Amino acid sequence: MKHKFQVFSLLTLALFQLSISVNAQTFFKQHPQINPYQYTIVKEQAFQKAAVTSAHPLASMVGAAIMKDGGNAFDAAIAVQFTLAVVYPGAGNIGGGGFLLSRNKEGVLMGIDYREAAPSKAFRDMYLDEKGNPIEGMSRSGASASGVPGSVAGMFSTLPFAKLPMKTLLQPAYELAANGFVITEREARGLNAERKNFIKNSAQASAFTRKENWKAGDTLYQPELAATILRIQQKGKAGFYEGETAAMIVEEMKNSKGIISLEDLKKYTPQFRKPIEFDYRGHRVISFAPPSSGGIIIAQMMQMIAPYPLTVMGANSFESVSLMVEAQRRAYADRAEHMGDPDFWKVPTKTLTSNAYAQARMKDYQPGVAGNSKLIQAGIAKESEQTTHFSVIDEAGNMVSVTTTLNDTYGNKTIVGGAGFLLNNEMDDFSIKPGVPNMYGALGGEANAIQPGKRMLSSMTPTLVTKNNQPYITIGTPGGTTIPNQVFEGLVNVIDHKMSLKAAIDAPRFHHQHMPDMVSVEADFPEATINALKEKGYTITKRGAFGRMEGVMILPNGNRVAAGDKRGDDSVAGY
Ligand code: GLY
Repeated sequence: MKHKFQVFSLLTLALFQLSISVNAQTFFKQHPQINPYQYTIVKEQAFQKAAVTSAHPLASMVGAAIMKDGGNAFDAAIAVQFTLAVVYPGAGNIGGGGFLLSRNKEGVLMGIDYREAAPSKAFRDMYLDEKGNPIEGMSRSGASASGVPGSVAGMFSTLPFAKLPMKTLLQPAYELAANGFVITEREARGLNAERKNFIKNSAQASAFTRKENWKAGDTLYQPELAATILRIQQKGKAGFYEGETAAMIVEEMKNSKGIISLEDLKKYTPQFRKPIEFDYRGHRVISFAPPSSGGIIIAQMMQMIAPYPLTVMGANSFESVSLMVEAQRRAYADRAEHMGDPDFWKVPTKTLTSNAYAQARMKDYQPGVAGNSKLIQAGIAKESEQTTHFSVIDEAGNMVSVTTTLNDTYGNKTIVGGAGFLLNNEMDDFSIKPGVPNMYGALGGEANAIQPGKRMLSSMTPTLVTKNNQPYITIGTPGGTTIPNQVFEGLVNVIDHKMSLKAAIDAPRFHHQHMPDMVSVEADFPEATINALKEKGYTITKRGAFGRMEGVMILPNGNRVAAGDKRGDDSVAGY
């Protein structure tokens, strides 16, 4: 491994000098208020005109600056997606995928699906051995776990709705990669924890591994990533999906049985999806359609609880939590059975999201009585909990809500040799053995079986809310299968429990996903509610914090209040 470090040091220097000479360093010179070497986390603030919340202070500040420079919420979203790929490598990405949901100032809704796709050589049983058993790690680790990345193409599909050129929107990310930025304590811990995996899974050394451990305040330089961003600036989408970058991705495939080909990269295309919409207590909720399960699940759950007086029941009380858990149980039961990539599987979206269906599903609900998931047939596909979300509202009222992911933290822990970015392990979001528990003990359905070109089922739930047909909230969070429940709870906290956006985001969370039949709660969840649930027969598991919710909400005076989750380095910015 020593050899890898030495080679990387020389390359670092050469590429650093090369990138400095070809690209004028302009963005941070023109925005001296953003200091990549000294920045603070701002958890909540109201802004008069425009606001951004993301997982990293630098990304939020970049998004706000782009809007102040004349960009709109779409410009900000593009700049934030690329900046997160540099400053938040655990989930920000160009090697993964995501969903962008928007409502423009005229009220037009749009969903851009840039979810990864199974490579053309993928097949249904590709992660099973000759006996039909899952091969340990193959769908999670190394190049064999990667779907064809969609993030760069997704941003090019967003560009027609933006105002500034792509080169400008990529510039902050380029400068942060080339000139470095100071990492947080949390980032240092993450990089140190994955050091061995980065080395084991990658063909070449990378910026993420060095002899010493990382610590808060160290500067992370990513010259190879800067060179990749420069190629995208110079050649557009082809700077990633063709030529040098594509060749490097395909070369990296050889190191760990990956199957992404040059042809797969060239033909990757984002899809526009009609958003899911439903009403909840005078609000219009808009969320993402399949291949995300998120929009359908929150539509089901919110309509299931609508007949009940949540405000009277109180936040995180036994009455409200047991009702919401029973809605969660029923909605998640439908997930594996009915949901998958709509280009490959007929998803009964209209039925699943109808109010009549939601009420019929709750017919057997008895207040205060614990349900039993064994009585419901469908199962759940396992997903990792690392992903990231950002929310933007601009001066004109354009709202953009983006959830993007590599799947696991730092994806498949494989850095594309010479290109400096991490690849996703999104293939693990497929049901690797339909109908049978996979190696993580979770069930999946035929709807989400692997097929070439198919998108794997997701839980990402970028969401928007309007009130009186006016923009109101953009919200979302990471957290695998917990995502729809977090968004559900966040919205109920605001709408029913009248919490501020920040309080709604920080409130202790609970999660039930039908199977396994248990309620997991965060450590600070009220003990009285836990005891009452246990008395009624619920199985309760305490667990670490989950999710990092990011929201922006428009107050009656027009101010945009932005809130970042207490659970991470999440930070807000605006003007
Ligand atoms: N990989 C997490 C999700 O798509 O839900």
